[in-house]
Amino acid sequence: SGSVPFYGGHQAGITTPAQDRLHFAAFDVTTRKRDELVDLLQRWTAAAARMTQGRDAGTFGAVGGDPEAPPDDTGEALGLPPSGLTLTIGFGTSLFDERFGLAGRRPPALADLPAFPGDDLQKDISGGDLCVQACAHDPQVAVHAIRNLARIGFGKVAVRYSQLGFGRTSSTSRAQTTPRNLMGFKDGTNNLKLEDTDMLREYLWAAPGDGPDWMDGGSYLVTRKIRMHIETWDRAPLAEQQAIFGRDKGKGAPLTGAAEFDAPDFAKTGPDGKPVIAADSHVRLAHPSSHGGARLLRRGYNFVDGSDGLGRLDAGLFFMAYQRDPRTQFTPIQRTLSAKDALNEYIKHVSSGLFACPPGVVDAGDYWGRALF
Ligand code: HEM
Repeated sequence: SGSVPFYGGHQAGITTPAQDRLHFAAFDVTTRKRDELVDLLQRWTAAAARMTQGRDAGTFGAVGGDPEAPPDDTGEALGLPPSGLTLTIGFGTSLFDERFGLAGRRPPALADLPAFPGDDLQKDISGGDLCVQACAHDPQVAVHAIRNLARIGFGKVAVRYSQLGFGRTSSTSRAQTTPRNLMGFKDGTNNLKLEDTDMLREYLWAAPGDGPDWMDGGSYLVTRKIRMHIETWDRAPLAEQQAIFGRDKGKGAPLTGAAEFDAPDFAKTGPDGKPVIAADSHVRLAHPSSHGGARLLRRGYNFVDGSDGLGRLDAGLFFMAYQRDPRTQFTPIQRTLSAKDALNEYIKHVSSGLFACPPGVVDAGDYWGRALF
């Protein structure tokens, strides 16, 4: 229930140990005026600095202002602790067009993602000029934060889509236990973690020389809403489920090992001469050894958006992954997965987003994306 520092060299909400709840929102910028966009980013930053410390979005608060005016905070988080709230902003590919004179500022690493086989992307829940990831241990706190940012942005931005996540599907610190995704498997075992300082430098943070300097110390976020065919999965035998991931369902150990964090042995064969961890298993295909060492910091959430009218749960994984360069990390990994992963029979990618998340806000005189404008 404590607070996470808002100011720092990197934005909070990336290596911050993954909180339990998510409210993610993507916005379209509706104003055409660059100074209005900059003003909004300044006002958002000030509100974010306050809300992440458990305070009201505005200086008067939910009940302290002029009774004849709408309150500058909506009030539903009154009395709630900060709950580990982090607010992380990203700039989408579509922001870098002629509207705001940013076309020449687009980082090469923010290249459009290619289409992948099997994609069934819905435009209305994909993309976005801006995104804000709100994570907290209390869903009311995360929702309150997004709601107030949307309220502050009225007339300048409009919510394009938003996604609630109710359970983390990864751990981003060795101090955390590994949670489970809706397929019942431990997820996040071999993730990039806060303690892996050398690897974070190599695979998470944009560094000087990578691209435009406004992104130095930032990171690139790929989002994919992945629907699971839960009912079909629930009829698959345990042995098949384990073969698909290459891991044991109970402990999360690789099928060649005994404990969760044992390294998988991809060379090991069984009595039938076939590899114990199958050629088309998720863990083999996604493993850094299949991609020249490339890694991701996965930070996804489980979602159940009710049911789909056909008697099935509308459920799955809202996948989010941070990285230094999607061209050499997410894209090659997903290209391999989309072509070969045995898991594909049970999932469908229904949305996609790509965002440049700038470095952290250093102090109260700074604001989200200052170096970009
Ligand atoms: C590993 C589940 C989609 C990248 C894993 C693991 C599970 C899992 C259970 C093993 C535990 C772990 O190390 O975290 C899922 C499910 C998905 C999904 C249910 C879709 C619904 C994706 C996508 C990507 C991805 C789209 C990236 C393009 C990875 C990576 C690993 C991993 C890099 C670590 C592999 C290793 O180093 O051993 N996933 N995953 N996953 N997944 Fe996924």
